[in-house]
Amino acid sequence: MTDFSERVERVSISGIREVFEMAGDDAINLGLGQPDFPTPAHAREAAVDAIQSGEADAYTSNKGTRPLREAIAAKHDRDQGVTVDPDDVIATAGGSEALHVALEAHVDAGEEVLVPDPGFVSYDALTKLAGGEPVPVPLREDLTLDPAAVEERITDDTAAFVVNSPSNPTGAVASPDDIEAFARIAREHDVLCISDEVYETIVFEGEHRSPLEHERENVVVVNACSKAYSMTGWRLGWVTGATDRIERMLRVHQYAQACASAPAQYAAEAALSGPQDVVGEMRDSFERRRDIVLEGLADAGLDCPTPQGAFYAMPEVPEGFVDACIDRGVVVVPGDAFGANGAGYARISYATGEDDLREALDIMAEAAEAVR
Ligand SMILES: Cc1ncc(COP(=O)(O)O)c(C=O)c1O
Repeated sequence: MTDFSERVERVSISGIREVFEMAGDDAINLGLGQPDFPTPAHAREAAVDAIQSGEADAYTSNKGTRPLREAIAAKHDRDQGVTVDPDDVIATAGGSEALHVALEAHVDAGEEVLVPDPGFVSYDALTKLAGGEPVPVPLREDLTLDPAAVEERITDDTAAFVVNSPSNPTGAVASPDDIEAFARIAREHDVLCISDEVYETIVFEGEHRSPLEHERENVVVVNACSKAYSMTGWRLGWVTGATDRIERMLRVHQYAQACASAPAQYAAEAALSGPQDVVGEMRDSFERRRDIVLEGLADAGLDCPTPQGAFYAMPEVPEGFVDACIDRGVVVVPGDAFGANGAGYARISYATGEDDLREALDIMAEAAEAVR
């Protein structure tokens, strides 16, 4: 019973869950990485219709239904001005599976993957599961990823680097210049840039840009309906990239997944091609909450770079702060759950109602005072 793979022994269940379990049922949970809005009605209805008519009963093509992939291609045209062939798209079980197939298809045993630190927990874990070595890249003081820091860590063993803008856990948004630099690095060093764009619709200042606008061969984009349309439970994402990369990623997807869930594909197609006003409404709501959080953190004497997107803030916090919050009934996630360089920070997710948010900020101020 103890003969597990070395790869699986190198990863453990995310530390975020442990924090939730420590908190009581009445706690205000600022640890969750999901929007608190309903999925748009027209997306739900499309899935219901597909279920009722029997259309969603069977396997779809491995890559996903043609109309869904056309809707994804149209999205890239609409939002990035990039022409994507629907054949160069694979619908996946969320952004999570998209990241998995991208790393499985490109990373050999012992090869390095440069990951932002602090960064989304899956980059490190999925690299290890692929047999690779994650190489943490520290962030700038404003919590953005510096292209120069990526470039100087590239070696002959580098298979890929991950860019995540807007970012979990920092809320940082890369500048257009940095995005262009990531594309140049991918091209000049002939390494893959995996661009995780699952928060692309949630940008408050500036605009979302993709390295795919500047480089096609060596950029793979990971995206999902999860955050954009509040569809985390539907498990529908996608990956797009050059044809030969898609063909390799499809080999992984075909054997691990066969195809993304058919009802979810119908819902995603409707979400992507239907009215987009809900996306803007969610973004505006997150921006108001971001401002409430920044004000509350400033009142609590906690320094925090202004998050420009997603729904996270990452203030610097005194030692003992996270435990003091949890003791008082507010869940926040310790920064080191996202990498060693996250130590001394906490991640606050503000995908929570404004009243709860204000109450939580008062409690955080008390907690900060108590541990200082
Ligand atoms: C940066 C980032 N990428 C990918 C994902 C995975 O998203 P999905 O729920 O679509 O699998 C998440 C989820 O929290 C995320 O924060």
